[in-house]
Amino acid sequence: MHSARYWAIVPAAGIGKRMGSAIPKQYLPLLGRPVVAHALTTLLQHPRIDGVVVAVDAKDEWWPAVAANLDTAKPVLRAAGGAERHHSVLNGLEMLRERAAWSDWVLVHDAARPCLSAADLDRLLAELADDPVGGLLAVPVRDTLKQTDTAGRVAATVDRSRLWHALTPQMFRLGMLHDALRAALERGLLVTDDAAAMEAAGFAPRLVEGRGDNLKITRPEDLALAEFFLARRAVSVAG
Ligand code: CTP
Ligand code: MG
Repeated sequence: MHSARYWAIVPAAGIGKRMGSAIPKQYLPLLGRPVVAHALTTLLQHPRIDGVVVAVDAKDEWWPAVAANLDTAKPVLRAAGGAERHHSVLNGLEMLRERAAWSDWVLVHDAARPCLSAADLDRLLAELADDPVGGLLAVPVRDTLKQTDTAGRVAATVDRSRLWHALTPQMFRLGMLHDALRAALERGLLVTDDAAAMEAAGFAPRLVEGRGDNLKITRPEDLALAEFFLARRAVSVAG
């Protein structure tokens, strides 16, 4: 029987408006390597992942140098970036159609998340291997949440016991995710992650609890945090 293979899609075509740096945040140096290189290395080093598609902006000047420095024998393909994250992901899925089966798993992982751990990636693959839908890494919300009125005063305290932060990777079957994203785009829905497209198609993705340090570099202070997490991990591996 054909057993499903695993591919990764890394959307890396954003401009990083909130970061406000001179170059897109996914190319900023972090412990001597670009942010996206950290994200890709964890994916490429996983034995079950067969290859990666990176969605890159047409005018991007930095990707070729990153690609040339990736130490891997696996295919690393370049797809076109799109106007929004979901367009970039869809372009990656279209590229995979030529070499992957419709039932293969696809893990979509933000280029701006350099601290994905091998252990979280392992757990995601293991917990979802037989799942009919797929799912995503997530962490429970820990702060008390307030809802405001229009004047900026508290209107309600929200029950956080069932609230989670959605992280990446998000893992779905190639064909199901492709059709769900396409349908969401055609309906003009605002889907900020892959799971949202699956939800709009009527599926209930599974949440797999991950580590809180799998942060997305968003604002300037996040870079120092990511550096701290990665450096500490390198020490614990060496020691
Ligand atoms: N992304 C993409 N194509 C887009 C927009 C975003 O591939 N048109 C990617 C980003 O490169 C990033 C991931 O999607 O790896 C998550 O997006 P986000 O953190 O919002 O990055 P940016 O859109 O670059 O940042 P900002 O929203 O602050 O502009
Ligand atoms: Mg964005």
